[in-house]
Amino acid sequence: TISNQQFKIVLLGEGCVGKTSLVLRYVENKFSETNQSTLQASFLTKNIFVQNMPITLNIWDTAGQERFHAVGPLYYRDSNGALLVYDVTDPDSLAKVKVWIKELRKVLGNDVCIAIIGNKIDLLSGLERDQMNNVLIAEAQSYATTAGATHYCTSAKTNYGIDDVFLNLTKQMISF
Ligand code: GTP
Repeated sequence: TISNQQFKIVLLGEGCVGKTSLVLRYVENKFSETNQSTLQASFLTKNIFVQNMPITLNIWDTAGQERFHAVGPLYYRDSNGALLVYDVTDPDSLAKVKVWIKELRKVLGNDVCIAIIGNKIDLLSGLERDQMNNVLIAEAQSYATTAGATHYCTSAKTNYGIDDVFLNLTKQMISF
């Protein structure tokens, strides 16, 4: 038997944007309304098939609180992919994504596939969910283009868009 191809993915972003929720929804199909701040980081794996190939995703969910910023490099080092998460109702959280991307590009260069994730899309009204009608999302999309990243909107609460994020990132990492 051949062993699975392995990829390392790191989640980064401000506290409370929903990083842990995205990973738990993706890996265990669970969601909790109560906020449990991650301390430092936690690790989960998920096995998937992409283009008939068995793949193991090694997912590092990092702590968003500012006091943990300095430990970021321990977790993004050697990453094949990075998910930079913001909350679509919180402009400050997009500013933090930009800080992380600058750091990632400086340290890892172009060796990492980056996706920007606008989470909590369920909190927007129907009209605003139309991405070009929301100023923050439109800004994130155009920033993603300049940063060589992709952009997605998700909801960990309703399980919107999350499989697509991991599937497309994985395809990108495979072809990298
Ligand atoms: P840190 O561990 O502090 O970095 O936070 P985090 O980014 O991991 O956020 P977490 O997943 O703990 O979620 C924070 C809060 O947001 C929790 O109360 C979640 O229930 C809520 N939340 C997460 N995702 C969503 C979402 O898609 N929609 C809504 N409405 N709430 C969400």
